[in-house]
Amino acid sequence: MVMESVLGYHDAKALLAWQIELGATEAIGDTAVNRYELPEKSAKPATAPPAPTAPTAAPGPEPVVDPVAAATSAAANAGSLEDLKDALAAFPHCDLKRGARNLVFSDGTPGARVMIIGEAPGRDEDREGRPFVGRAGQLLDRMFAAIGLGRAPKRPEDGIYITNVLPWRPPQNRDPTADEIAMMRPFLARHVALANPDFVVLMGNISCDAGLEKRGITRLRGTWTTAFGKPALPMVHPAYLLRTPSAKREAWADLLSLQARLRGGA
Ligand code: URA
Repeated sequence: MVMESVLGYHDAKALLAWQIELGATEAIGDTAVNRYELPEKSAKPATAPPAPTAPTAAPGPEPVVDPVAAATSAAANAGSLEDLKDALAAFPHCDLKRGARNLVFSDGTPGARVMIIGEAPGRDEDREGRPFVGRAGQLLDRMFAAIGLGRAPKRPEDGIYITNVLPWRPPQNRDPTADEIAMMRPFLARHVALANPDFVVLMGNISCDAGLEKRGITRLRGTWTTAFGKPALPMVHPAYLLRTPSAKREAWADLLSLQARLRGGA
């Protein structure tokens, strides 16, 4: 019997070749066949035995890839935002990629003082290849315009830079899984390091999960913390504000808090 776990590929192949040289014509299973069993009770058909098949070498074990380690090394090797986008495009371990039309990397002003991290592309973003272009994105634009910030501002210091935890749309806009968030976290950390904003806005629970490893946005929102080494402000997601307009008052308070920080205040 060839034990896959004991023999390597080449040893197993050499052992099979040696058995063929000894005259072996048939590969047998782990359990012995009772050839004295009556035909009607036999599990084997009473027909002629199958033609002997050439023994094949046991395939070597599949290499086990840790997607988080692979993501960490791919992200670390990216020296620019363009490199990082290319590294994500080449990353083979996230199945969401197969169902998505586009990689949604970022939008706005690279190098802006404020970096906004959303959840994942929806249908509109998947089509356009840009984050926050649907209804929630239009609200996001209005929210930040209210404190003088935008994706393509007249003055570079008024810019915002936008990305998501996931660069690919999840099927039916389902929530990202813990594994998906874990394998995208190294890319996101590198994204923040390369974009180097003064402040990060964590939009919603998935973003808090990626940046703070905790959820509970209604409790977290409005309290400054640190994510990816930057001062970070959790805020409720604009999609939530579309469904719950009464939460806009708190979102406005959070925007004013961000504005105060930008102006050098508390
Ligand atoms: N919601 C998000 O979190 N990100 C987008 O890009 C669009 C909607």
